[in-house]
Amino acid sequence: MRYKDSVVVVTGGAHGIGRALCENFFAAGAHVVVVDIDLPAAEKVAAAVDGFAVQADVGVEADIQALIAKTEAVLGPIDVFVSNAGVALTDGPDWLAASAPDEHWMTSWQVNVMAHVYAARALVPQMIRRGGGYFVNVASGASLLCQVGDAAYSTTKSAALGFAESLAITHGDDGIQVSVVCPLYVATRMTEGGRGVSGSDRVMSADEAADAVLAGMEEGTFLILPHQEVATYAQRKGADYDRWLIGMRRMRQSMLKQNPQFAYEIIPNV
Ligand SMILES: NC(=O)c1ccc[n+]([C@@H]2O[C@H](COP(=O)([O-])OP(=O)(O)OC[C@H]3O[C@@H](n4cnc5c(N)ncnc54)[C@H](O)[C@@H]3O)[C@@H](O)[C@H]2O)c1
Repeated sequence: MRYKDSVVVVTGGAHGIGRALCENFFAAGAHVVVVDIDLPAAEKVAAAVDGFAVQADVGVEADIQALIAKTEAVLGPIDVFVSNAGVALTDGPDWLAASAPDEHWMTSWQVNVMAHVYAARALVPQMIRRGGGYFVNVASGASLLCQVGDAAYSTTKSAALGFAESLAITHGDDGIQVSVVCPLYVATRMTEGGRGVSGSDRVMSADEAADAVLAGMEEGTFLILPHQEVATYAQRKGADYDRWLIGMRRMRQSMLKQNPQFAYEIIPNV
């Protein structure tokens, strides 16, 4: 894929993986639009990549429509739309799988899933008319393998993978390319404090993750796995689900040993 003078939108571009993606696309010659709910931080990144910043809550369809209209008015048609913004709100203080409030579930759904739907809803018809376009949807290793301690994150990231599959199947023959990115742990604000990171996991930098995304796009890969071991874990899960669940429970127990403050206690009603 050639980026020289292409128009690339990156949501959640103010921090972490999104910021590193903005820098990489800029280095490859693209015009970069840095979208974030955090405008001052987005403006700093935009200044560094000679792009412009747009404030948007990606979970709100009108914000996605407005940022697309603004981008196309200033720079012309969008070639690549990277839905990277995401939230991980955790199960709550006691790690019960369903204890997070509805508000957490709804925000996770809007930001981790519907933002991808809104971008496609607005852009797919235009991209088909123009002969093509590229959606890069940042999901997670949790889409394939579950995130211990965050049921809403695991559920919505699985849904994000499902939507990317539908997009690729429905519009692959229309010239629409789709990649879905499923990293394990990346050192960003999201993983600060280490909650949910088990000792055995390889934590990579945001720069490494962004490099893997551009390399995957270069190959036209649908499933981009910055941590390649995810492919092996997912195959093992597919081959024997029950065994995989036993392994995940074991991992959860060892994570609780490291973080006993998250253990829940339910007194039997006798
Ligand atoms: N860090 C990891 O270990 C990891 C692993 C797998 C997947 N991911 C995914 O990578 C993506 C980037 O995460 P990160 O680790 O760089 O986290 P981060 O918290 O550093 O960055 C997320 C960015 O999204 C922005 N954002 C959040 N909600 C938004 C909203 N409603 N509208 C607009 N912007 C919003 C934040 O302001 C921030 O700039 C997320 O989708 C995340 O789920 C991260």
